[in-house]
Amino acid sequence: MVYLTRVEHFNAAHKLWNTEWSAEKNKEVFGKCANENWHGHNYEIHVTIKGEPQPETGFIFNAKRLSVIIKEYVCDKIDHKNLNMDVDFMAGKFTTAESLTVAIWGQLEPVLREEGVALHSIKLYETPRIYIEYFGN
Ligand code: NI
Repeated sequence: MVYLTRVEHFNAAHKLWNTEWSAEKNKEVFGKCANENWHGHNYEIHVTIKGEPQPETGFIFNAKRLSVIIKEYVCDKIDHKNLNMDVDFMAGKFTTAESLTVAIWGQLEPVLREEGVALHSIKLYETPRIYIEYFGN
């Protein structure tokens, strides 16, 4: 089995907020991510697929095509957007990196499966020092 990773970027605004809690508790738990007037992150997403190199190409899948799919189904929907307000597939969810990573899997996996590609993992960097990994379950 061979693994191929494509890296893409997007910038987005968000706020972490539990509406059941007081402002004080939100600020205590979520820190700077609870800023009431939003803030942004420079995200980096690593999408890893797996498969066997094809006899005709030596590729497991065309990396350019993978980039086009990630842009169409993820980056174009969230780049320079507000994750809490503007993104259909984040509606009603916490906009944590954890939740966003799982939602991105949900965006990409069916599209890739349709093209005969097995998605292995999504790794999402919210900052250079914090990243989430998701393997589909
Ligand atoms: Ni934040």
